[in-house]
Amino acid sequence: MKIIGILTSGGDSPGMNAAINGILKTAFINKIKVFGIYNGFKGLYKNNIKEIIKNKKINLINIGGTFLRSSRFKEFENKNIRIKAIDNLKKKKIDSLIIIGGNGSYIGSKYLIKEGFSCICLPGTIDNDVICTDYSIGYFTALETIVEAIDRIRDTACSHKSIFIIEIMGRYCGNLTIASAIAGKCEFFIIPEINFNIKNLIYEIKLKLLKGINNIIIAITENIYNIKKLSKYIRKKIKFEVKTVVLGYIQRGGKPISYDRILGFRMGSYSIKLLIKGYNNICIGIKNNKIIFKNIIKEINKIT
Ligand code: F6P
Repeated sequence: MKIIGILTSGGDSPGMNAAINGILKTAFINKIKVFGIYNGFKGLYKNNIKEIIKNKKINLINIGGTFLRSSRFKEFENKNIRIKAIDNLKKKKIDSLIIIGGNGSYIGSKYLIKEGFSCICLPGTIDNDVICTDYSIGYFTALETIVEAIDRIRDTACSHKSIFIIEIMGRYCGNLTIASAIAGKCEFFIIPEINFNIKNLIYEIKLKLLKGINNIIIAITENIYNIKKLSKYIRKKIKFEVKTVVLGYIQRGGKPISYDRILGFRMGSYSIKLLIKGYNNICIGIKNNKIIFKNIIKEINKIT
């Protein structure tokens, strides 16, 4: 009988629970024993591992976050820590680990694979910056949350004739920013992938004001600029009210929208089907609306 572990790692994303649900349903149908690793790689090291019993009712698919909880654990780069973690898995006779997370979690799996432990990775992050997939689990839910926030801020921007700078998550990836700027009809967006010229921005804002457009939203990806300083600078240059909003963690939480529930479930279920067929050390993705898989080591090596 196969025995697997499931672990969620890095920033939680809406739909991680749906992926766990897909894994559990398909695993139980196929008589696979499942252990939950609680608190990500940290929990793996600390032996926070418990069997998930088949008949225990776990209400998962519509709940945000991850019921297995998550963590960031830099210490996993340390070989001794990894050996202890693998030892914990072996004691429970777990032969494969399914990891749901972003690129950092994929690197974690690479470490385990190097030590001879087999893993399957699923892309779970709002940032949509994971290799081998068009979309990551949680991205579209976060996008909905952000667009809703932009719409609300627009009401105030219109009522007060002001400029708003809205900082959006994504770490070093502009996907969430550009998509929400389009859907939220933002006048400007600043993303890490495109060089940003502040003089051009001031010029373009002045043009808009001259045209009588007096509510302006600038969407910006986090980690590019200090938006307080940016707002002060714009205010000084154009003598117009500039307000800032950091959307922060509200972008990560909340009920997953149907797309993320279905995507998570499909990927989770598929990972078990592949495992039964003997595949391992792979990452799952969606390309052109088809669920696919790739050799994870080859794919990570392309980007590192
Ligand atoms: O990766 C998801 C994410 O929410 C990023 O958008 C953000 O930069 C980061 O996590 C925040 O990380 P933490 O939860 O460690 O503060």
